[in-house]
Amino acid sequence: MSRVFSGIKPTGAIHLGNFLGAVQNWVAMQDDYDAVYCVVDLHALTVPQDPAELRAGSLRLAQVLLAAGINPDRSTLFVQSHVHEHPELAWMLECTASFGELRRMTQFKDKSDQAGDGGSGFISAGLFTYPALMAADILLYDTDAVPVGDDQRQHLELTRDVAERFNSRYGDTFVIPDAIIPPAGARIMDLQHPENKMSKSDDTDSGTILLLDDLKKIEKKIKRAVTDNDSEVRFDIAEKPGVSNLLSILGAVTDQDPTALADEFDQYGPLKTATAEAVIERLRPIQERFFELEADPAETQRLLKHGADRAQEKAAEVLARAKQHIGLLP
Ligand code: TYM
Repeated sequence: MSRVFSGIKPTGAIHLGNFLGAVQNWVAMQDDYDAVYCVVDLHALTVPQDPAELRAGSLRLAQVLLAAGINPDRSTLFVQSHVHEHPELAWMLECTASFGELRRMTQFKDKSDQAGDGGSGFISAGLFTYPALMAADILLYDTDAVPVGDDQRQHLELTRDVAERFNSRYGDTFVIPDAIIPPAGARIMDLQHPENKMSKSDDTDSGTILLLDDLKKIEKKIKRAVTDNDSEVRFDIAEKPGVSNLLSILGAVTDQDPTALADEFDQYGPLKTATAEAVIERLRPIQERFFELEADPAETQRLLKHGADRAQEKAAEVLARAKQHIGLLP
């Protein structure tokens, strides 16, 4: 069976972009793949975190993933810091990636620019080497496919380049993974600023739909989404970013093509109503299940421990292979 691996950071609250770009596909892929999913808490450390919030956020995110349909009997769900092989392999990959390659990562450029421009001014070394840790996450499981949103495309290309370089220097060690990017939902935009992607760090609360937002609030946010002055419903990201974003959301939630969906609407009002209803119907059962799981944190922790034990079995095998090939003394 082919293997998939993917990860999500426990910083901020999980939003509709994470769900439609990634998590929804993780759930669907459990049937056809040996699936490994990870709450990447070490990746959260590239910026200073409140320790209590980080701990609570990691547990909450695991519960949201379970509520969304990740089934721990079929998939391996674990927390990155519970499997020490990740940072260990990351070091070998930091020494395989070049400075120039890491410097070209657009996410590093954006985030370090934000830190510079009116931000804290502090840019951690970890923010720079982050893609090597991400490559380690993926390569440790002999991963064939990585379901992610569009913003991770460049990191996946780097992972492949680094794996190929390692293999050609030290002999066949890593499986070369492919990115799997969904046809609709790979790039959900902010509802108020549809030229920016929906994100958890964004301070415009009204532009981001959180998975655990009150359902009434979700309806309001969608109804107030920015569209434009004419009233033609057409999927055209360049000319009509707000309307196209609503069509992408509706398409990703209902598994339909956004361009074809546009023909069903001749006004913005009904499009917004249909989108709000579809999102709410999709999220309602997830929220209900989340609140049940939230009441029993010990059970989630037990599941995560079990997931980490399973993950580690595989990770230890691949790490041992990499250490042997690179020349570390057993
Ligand atoms: P993160 O935590 O920022 O996002 C998790 C997933 O959500 C997707 N995503 C989106 N998709 C559509 N529209 C959006 N607006 C949107 N925002 C986020 C992301 O593409 C991602 O798939 N570096 C990764 C985490 C990571 C990882 C990995 C992923 C660490 N190791 C190994 C895959 C494999 C990140 O920061 O994702």
